[in-house]
This record gives sequence, C-alpha cells and structure tokens, in this order.
Amino acid sequence: MALDTLTGQENVVIPQPPADAPIQFFDLKAQQALVRSKVEARFTTILDHGRHIGGPEVDELEQKLCEFTGAADAVAVGSGTQALVMPLIALGYGHGDAVFIPGFTYNATANAVLLAGATPVFVDVDPATFNMCPIDLEKQIKAVKARRDLRARAIMPVDLYGMPADYHAIGQVADSYGLRIVADGAQSFGGRQSGKWVGAIAEITGTSFYPTKALGGYGDGGAIMTTDKDFAEILRSIRWHGTDADRKISVRVGINGRCDSIQCAIVSEKLDIFQAERTRRVSIAAIYEERLAGKVELQQATPGSEHGYGLFTVHVEGRDTVRAQLSELGIPTAIYYDTPLHRMEAYAPYNPAEGLPGCDACAQSAMSLPMHPYLSDAQAHRVCDALEKVLGSTK
Ligand SMILES: Cc1ncc(COP(=O)(O)O)c(C=O)c1O
Repeated sequence: MALDTLTGQENVVIPQPPADAPIQFFDLKAQQALVRSKVEARFTTILDHGRHIGGPEVDELEQKLCEFTGAADAVAVGSGTQALVMPLIALGYGHGDAVFIPGFTYNATANAVLLAGATPVFVDVDPATFNMCPIDLEKQIKAVKARRDLRARAIMPVDLYGMPADYHAIGQVADSYGLRIVADGAQSFGGRQSGKWVGAIAEITGTSFYPTKALGGYGDGGAIMTTDKDFAEILRSIRWHGTDADRKISVRVGINGRCDSIQCAIVSEKLDIFQAERTRRVSIAAIYEERLAGKVELQQATPGSEHGYGLFTVHVEGRDTVRAQLSELGIPTAIYYDTPLHRMEAYAPYNPAEGLPGCDACAQSAMSLPMHPYLSDAQAHRVCDALEKVLGSTK
C-alpha cells in the first residue's frame, strides 16, 4: 500500500457519496463503516487483557500523537476540558491568577480556568479570523497589571473552528510580559502553523476527542501535547490524583484525569485514517472558499496558518433567514456560538465594562456549513448552489 509522504500513514480511500445523497452536517456513520471492524477487534483485545484503565492502548495513542504532531510528549486524558484544567493545575495557578481567554469560544475554556481556581480575563476577538486579537490581549494584560487583586499569569488562545490562533503575535506579547501559553486546541487537531502541527506550535496544547471533533472518539476523551517531557510527567501524576510513580502516595493535588483504554484504542484507529480524512476536508474547503468568496465573509487565516477545518464557518447577514431557507433546500447549518461568554450568566463577574464588540459581532453572524470528510465534491457544490440561491433571494 502506498504511504503518505508527510506522516507515513497508509493511504485510505474515503468514499464520496453521490451528488443527490442527503447532506449531513457531520457524518459519523460513514466514518464508522471504515473503522468499525478494527474497533471491534480492539474491544475484543481489551476485554481479553482486562486493563480497562491504563492499558497498553494509552501508551500507544500517546506515542502516535507525538509521531503525528511532532510534540515531545502527549498525555491522554478524560476530556478536552481536563486537557485545559490539568496544565493550569500543573503550573500552580489558583486564586488571584489571571488567565487571558477569548470571549468568543466554547464555555469549556472559561470553565477550565475557573475550575483551576484562577480568574478568566476576556480578550476580544478579531472577527476576520474569529480568533483572539493580539492588540486587545496586550491592552487587557496592561489593565490587569494595574490591578492589585490579580496577577497576569497565562494566555489561553483558542484555535477557533480549527484555525490556529496567531501564535506569532501572541507569543511576542507573552514573552514581553512573562506569561505562559496554554493553547486550547480542542477544535484544531490537524491545523498547522509555520510548518508545525497543532500540538507542537505552543508549549502546551489541550485537545478534545469529543465524537464530532476532527479527531474524535466514541465518547469523551482528550490529550495534552507539550514540548516539555518533564511537564508531561507532572501531568501523568495529576491524571492519577497527584500520585507518585507507584500511583499510591499523592505528592501533589490531582484529579481522575484518565482516558479509558477503549477510548484510546478508538482514537488510535481513527488517527490512522486522519490524514486521508484531512485531505478531504481541505478539498471541500477549497470548493467553499472558491465559490463563496465575495458572497459571504470567509474566515481569514492567521499568519502562516493552515486550517484544520474542524468546522467551516462564515459571517452571513440575516443569518436566521438564510439558515431557514437553506434548511428548506436540505442544507443543514449550525451556529457556534450565538452568545459570547461575557454575556453568559455564569461569567457575568468577568464581563468587561468596555464590552467585547468583536465577540458580539461574531455571535451575530457566525454560521457553520456542513464540513466532514464524507461529503463529496458534488455535495459541496450543492451547498454552494443553495447558499448562492438563498443569498440572491434575500438581497
Ligand atoms: C474550544 C473548546 N474548548 C474546550 C472544549 C472541551 O472539550 P470536551 O468537551 O472534550 O471537554 C471544547 C469542546 O467542545 C471546545 O470546543
């Protein structure tokens, strides 16, 4: 079998449904057909060896994640949320420590900071990229530096929809203020920047294996990838209640952050077809980008980035009407997200007085189109035909 030159993965043929087949927003069933027999064989192996927690599948997945991404080490954990909380615990953050996060992201980013005992400080996003604005970041850091009740500690950029945040600019800001970076790569496995895969771009990256992610399991899971092997060992201790190598005596505070052997095996099987799936995502995105340029506002790339296309999201005016009409034409869409975090009740204490206009703008107009590897080119064209038709009629 031919080998992929970039990753050494076996070339896999991803089936493309006919043009008139129903269009799914995600399609886990089609993917399952490709991996099911291997996953079933894995179940049998795990039922036979009986190490449901901490089995050899955990090491195997961690090794494969390093090989794929170029990270020095990877630690499999129970969810993407744990993959963000645990590094903050490992870095010793808690009461009075400020962690800068974008205000337009999934709720888990803020929850991770709060669960670690630290304080989220919202940063505005650039609507063009949907990602953290480095200029506003610096402004928010200066504001925290002027306060007595908070210490500026870390930045948690989010690679929204799969587009890596602007790590060049954010890294410069982090260096000049002595802050650490813990990247929220929950949506961006398969994204790249300046020749590096997500997982090897920032010093610490948390990702999620939630089933609909580009690399997803059949349940909850996640991983922390890091450039620092010693840090990974601390995370392995935290993953098991902060215990020492014998897993009996706690030498630090930790949690149950483990990923089941079964989940690791499933993600491992899916990683084997990931490169082929990614190629399909990139092809579909190319169709969308070529056909929709100038008709809707596309997500712009951050410097040096290649999108992971976990989601394909655009800004569209009159979103509710557009979505309703697309739905009538058989095109499913979704909104990620219609409420920015600073407007949610749980995070009201962190709502900045000056507001977050970029986050508000994104929440008003973000609309995600179907994006998964099991969409054919012809179906992607059908999505564009329908959107063109709807936009023409709503003008
Ligand atoms: C940006 C972001 N951060 C964190 C998470 C949390 O991941 P999990 O659901 O695996 O805990 C998600 C999951 O949707 C996410 O999209």
